[in-house]
Amino acid sequence: MKKHYLFFTGLLALAVSCSQGPSGSMSDSDLNIERRVDSVLAKMTLEEKVGQMNQISTGGAATGPVLGNNNDMTDLRAGKIGSILNLVGAERTREAQEIAVNETRMGIPLIFGLDVIHGYRTIFPTPLGESASWDTVGIKESARIAAIEASAQGVHWTFAPMVDISRDPRWGRIMEGAGEDPFLGSMIARARVEGFQGKSLTDNNTIVACAKHYAAYGAAEGGRDYNTVDISMRTLNDIYLPPFHAAVEAGVGTFMNSFNEIAGIPSTGNEYLLRDKLKGEWGFKGFVVSDWNSIGELVNHGVAADEEEAAEIAIKAGSDMDMVSGSYLENLPRLVKDGVVDEKLIDDAVRRILRIKFQLGLFDDPYKYCSVERENELLLHPSHREHARDIARKSIVLLKNEGQVLPVSKKTRTLAVIGPLADSKKDLLCTWTAKGQPDEAVSLLDGIKKKVDDGTRILYEKGCDITGDSKAGFASALSAARRADIVILAVGEAGDMSGEAHSRAYIGIPGVQPDLIKEIQKTGKPVVVVLMNGRPVTFEWTAKNMPAILETWFLGTEGGDAIADVLFGDYNPSGKLPVSIPVTVGQIPVYYNHKNTGRPFEKGEFFTSRYLDIPNEPLYPFGYGLSYTTFKYSDISLNKTKIAFSEPLIVKVKVTNTGEYDGEEVVQLYTRDMVASVTRPVKELKGFKKVMIEKGETAEISFELTSDDLRFYNDKMDFVAEPGDFKVFVGTSSDNVKEASFKLIENGSKD
Ligand code: GLC
Repeated sequence: MKKHYLFFTGLLALAVSCSQGPSGSMSDSDLNIERRVDSVLAKMTLEEKVGQMNQISTGGAATGPVLGNNNDMTDLRAGKIGSILNLVGAERTREAQEIAVNETRMGIPLIFGLDVIHGYRTIFPTPLGESASWDTVGIKESARIAAIEASAQGVHWTFAPMVDISRDPRWGRIMEGAGEDPFLGSMIARARVEGFQGKSLTDNNTIVACAKHYAAYGAAEGGRDYNTVDISMRTLNDIYLPPFHAAVEAGVGTFMNSFNEIAGIPSTGNEYLLRDKLKGEWGFKGFVVSDWNSIGELVNHGVAADEEEAAEIAIKAGSDMDMVSGSYLENLPRLVKDGVVDEKLIDDAVRRILRIKFQLGLFDDPYKYCSVERENELLLHPSHREHARDIARKSIVLLKNEGQVLPVSKKTRTLAVIGPLADSKKDLLCTWTAKGQPDEAVSLLDGIKKKVDDGTRILYEKGCDITGDSKAGFASALSAARRADIVILAVGEAGDMSGEAHSRAYIGIPGVQPDLIKEIQKTGKPVVVVLMNGRPVTFEWTAKNMPAILETWFLGTEGGDAIADVLFGDYNPSGKLPVSIPVTVGQIPVYYNHKNTGRPFEKGEFFTSRYLDIPNEPLYPFGYGLSYTTFKYSDISLNKTKIAFSEPLIVKVKVTNTGEYDGEEVVQLYTRDMVASVTRPVKELKGFKKVMIEKGETAEISFELTSDDLRFYNDKMDFVAEPGDFKVFVGTSSDNVKEASFKLIENGSKD
């Protein structure tokens, strides 16, 4: 069988080197790739083109309703499959690749995709938890390691980073993102894309990333997964789109649609999102894959009468590849032949898909990712575990430490370790665990045992289950607590209570755990509450009545060691909340970058925006996190009080470590546009720096702001900054800042 493209591989293979991400400018290698894409495309039949747009799932647990036509190697041999998700392993991917390359007319290699969300075999903190580190360098390294491990098992493409902004902890998938803020979310999106994609997609230890779920999936009404999203164009563009734009600027190779509609238009069929914004305004050159059956689900949405119409809507809107619905394979050839769909749309989609395959180097070596040797050498490498421990402890947020209960002495005579999560390994990995193995994780109990002196007695009691109403374990737990000098109490959600299709209407600590906390508190012993959760949970009583609380999310393979590092003071906690923690579920949505309203809350004033039964403020706000030391912020200074457009404003602040421990501090910079053509948030994060400040030392931190940083979608939906009065805030949390004022003036104006 003649291999058309092999000829070109021979001629141009040497010429092809790494090319910038699909949205980067055209380099020589880009031009070579374009020539190769065109040459392959020119030889393809319509059916073969549509085959490239068809993705099936096989070899792993379905992440959605199984649609039946998967695992079909017959289709593969017929050139009807361009991508397979959930198939991993050097040998298994090689088997499928050999069929695609040697037994189809065109011999176009497959691209293998998998959800590598927070690690592959070495599992890192859940993305929301890792975002609490505010350590973009460390976050990038986690993605880098995940790519190294996944590519060693044949994975070319991860369906990550998930960059959905969310202000609603009822939504289980809040754990997959970077929280509530567009700026932090954008910085982390960039870090994760760069980590996965490395310096060049042609390297065999880089994988193409996927910005998902485009868009506004996190704004589901009621926090109920897959539910309707109805937000304004301004909120969409100001809040939900920036991390996606950041991913494009970082060179992300692919996007994934979201399941939801936005104001009546499902994302999978949303031409504004896909062609106007993504491929038009942002110049995205990669391809868009649907989410699991989201093309077929246009019928459920009620915008398509059947899957044929769904395929027509999706391709016209700009969805390039069909994840498992089969609608494209079944309908596009006929729609083109009937003149309903222009073949140019098919060509554009296939060009985008082939471009990524060329950029991955798959045409030059379809088996470059199928190496058993690399598989054995790299998975769970000690250096990977070391990083996992480091980023995990940096993700821990110290919420409370009354009476300096923490850090705990390693010489403590008797330590009670209690709670249903104290000795759990599986929960530490949470969901989207790729090839992570629970038995390779370090539980909190394990971590504590390794830390304390030989003379320390550890009394471990589970106390109760995570859910359920049995208190049968309380008595022995209380007995252990009474015999101990201090109690470490590990409570929270099960790892599988967050994630896809796991919304909760009650988001308190589940089961009888709250009762256990109260009973332990009655013993009068010093207690450290170690919270473990995917989504933020509510714990108002605990926050008021317990002296020390650590938010540890689900920290992954090295979770137990990381928590023990913090518990015993071998690492001074530095995490800051990437999302507000509500007082109660009734307060949702609660977020720091809210509007002022016409009747902002005023103590003592009845007719103002407030609740009768709870405060407006969250239990713990965005950007909040304590340290074992203390930091004092001096007044902030500005180099000017007036700046013209594009003129830099230099903001400086001195931060002194006034405590007894060296510590890292996340210095945060916010602005407020006081008067504008539309209402503006009372604060917006515009910068942050995580700095180590030794005890007794003072650091001077400076930020640079220009009018570009002050842009928003104005009353005409133009993305501009408007002249006028601004405030600038610098501090340790969104609710604890020093402020100054400045004016943005028209160029050449005097005031
Ligand atoms: C799921 C998820 C998506 C994931 C995909 C493939 O339904 O929504 O995030 O990447 O299917 O597993």
